[in-house]
Amino acid sequence: MSRTILGFPDGEGVSRYAASLFARLAKKAVWDRGVFHVALAGGATPRQTYEILSTPGFVGPVEWNSTQIYFGDERAVEPDHADSNFHLASEALLNSLRLHSSQVHRMAGERGDLNVAAREYEARLAKSFATKRDEGLPRFDLILLGMGKDGHTASLFPFTEALNEREAWVVRNEVPQLSTERLTLTVPVLNAARCVVFLVNGDDKAKALERVLEGPPNRIEFPSQLIQPSDGELLWLVDEAAAAHLTRRPEAPPSRESRE
Ligand code: 6PG
Repeated sequence: MSRTILGFPDGEGVSRYAASLFARLAKKAVWDRGVFHVALAGGATPRQTYEILSTPGFVGPVEWNSTQIYFGDERAVEPDHADSNFHLASEALLNSLRLHSSQVHRMAGERGDLNVAAREYEARLAKSFATKRDEGLPRFDLILLGMGKDGHTASLFPFTEALNEREAWVVRNEVPQLSTERLTLTVPVLNAARCVVFLVNGDDKAKALERVLEGPPNRIEFPSQLIQPSDGELLWLVDEAAAAHLTRRPEAPPSRESRE
């Protein structure tokens, strides 16, 4: 696994870089395999990246027709609820694309029994990736993730059961600290991806970021430490405020020319 930490002056820098990386990885995946499988992050941080991807500079060049959109996690709400990760992604990006409904794989957070919803989503992944549990993990081309102030990612919260899941690809996770339940991809699926990208902005994330990136291994308290792709890239895109406590300065992003 290669881990790279890139620093940006602000959240817009993070979002612009994430959008162009998304486009580059989409191009490569479609060139290599004919399809781009990407899991979107929830929370507020990725919204700007999605909005940039919905602008003409990206709507054209990105191979949307060969793109399959999934979600890393979902809240226990209706898909049109303001807290829904699907709702956020739809408002900021999906509604401006003419994707066929079969290309967007939403997690059914509104279901009464999220265990059933988790199994349904796993079955959907098995169909899309033409694999199943005893044959191999679904291998995403790109997984976007955020990180909470407590060091959680997707809906893998500190001290919760889902942190130890090694069989299922998707689980219902009880989150007592929020008095709620969530749906989330599990660690084995996240770590099977070709590329995992964390987007982390703001000084409220600085303490946790320092613990996750430079602190002693403590995965149950800082679940973002669990994300270590076994055969893929791990990229942290962080702004200056979030990186304020880091002792090792993040690298400067490679210039556009060197990226092409
Ligand atoms: C969610 C996310 C979660 C998010 C972090 C950061 O559904 O809440 O998947 O893991 O990425 O909580 O959230 P913000 O970007 O809003 O700070």
